[in-house]
Amino acid sequence: MSYKHIIVEKKNGIGTITINRPQVLNALNRETLEELITVVQELENDPTIHVAIITGKEKAFIAGADITQMQEMNTLQAKKFGGLGHQLMQHIENSRLPYIAAVNGYALGGGCELMMACDIILASTHAKIGQPEINLGIHPGFGGTQRLPRLIGKIKAKELLLTGDTIDAQEAYRIGLINKVVEPEKLMEETEKLAQKILTKSAVQTSFIKELVNKGINIDLPSANTLEIASFSASFATEDQKEGMTAFLEKRKPLFKGK
Ligand code: HXC
Repeated sequence: MSYKHIIVEKKNGIGTITINRPQVLNALNRETLEELITVVQELENDPTIHVAIITGKEKAFIAGADITQMQEMNTLQAKKFGGLGHQLMQHIENSRLPYIAAVNGYALGGGCELMMACDIILASTHAKIGQPEINLGIHPGFGGTQRLPRLIGKIKAKELLLTGDTIDAQEAYRIGLINKVVEPEKLMEETEKLAQKILTKSAVQTSFIKELVNKGINIDLPSANTLEIASFSASFATEDQKEGMTAFLEKRKPLFKGK
């Protein structure tokens, strides 16, 4: 499959998606969202891929949804556009693949929202993160009003949403919005190292864990714990459980097959 606004690379079990509209700081227009939805499904269905990385070309991660395109939208078009963004975020969240965001620069608006739909977030010291929609007379429309408070708590989230302020990577790390701050020239190396580490784990378990956390956080605790019991017991029907425990007892490293 060939794409116009994104670059896709598949290597050693890792699928890397690079948003490639540097002339507009990788702003997400309708076509880019559609391509992203397609590529996320493509990686999902590719048995050779076990971890995915999302990053941006040149100096930005994503400077938000495309304002030039949004400026022309009526209510119905805005609803469809918001729906498209939500569809993408849900595909990422519901994916069997752990998604790592490598935030190389601006992650604003829709960029911050895409970053938050990922499972692990590494950011370069050049990153600037925020939800500046309020400055455009709108509010976030790809899940920012919902995912941000779930990640950093509602007091801090409301401050960022109401002021539109942008924070740097260090502050994002301090408030628990990202996992790690990395020097720009080391960002992809560190991201790939992390992806490689996750690749050594059981792919069954990485998908179980992702599903449990993402589903569980949105439902009540007793129901979420019931989900955990179900997938914990299902783990004992996998080859990886046998391999993991046998390897421990044989004092060797496990070799997981994702089965
Ligand atoms: C369209 C954008 C853009 C965007 C930047 N550009 N962000 N075009 N949509 N979101 C374009 C600029 O118009 C400019 O084009 C080129 O990219 C370079 O940007 P500059 O502004 O010249 O760069 P700089 O001075 O370095 O400033 C960087 C910046 C600024 C601080 C990131 O570009 C900025 O504030 N961008 C908008 C950020 C934003 O508000 N994001 C939220 C969008 S709303 P030209 O042609 O002049 O070279 C959103 C809603 C999501 O995301 C939900 C929708 C349902």
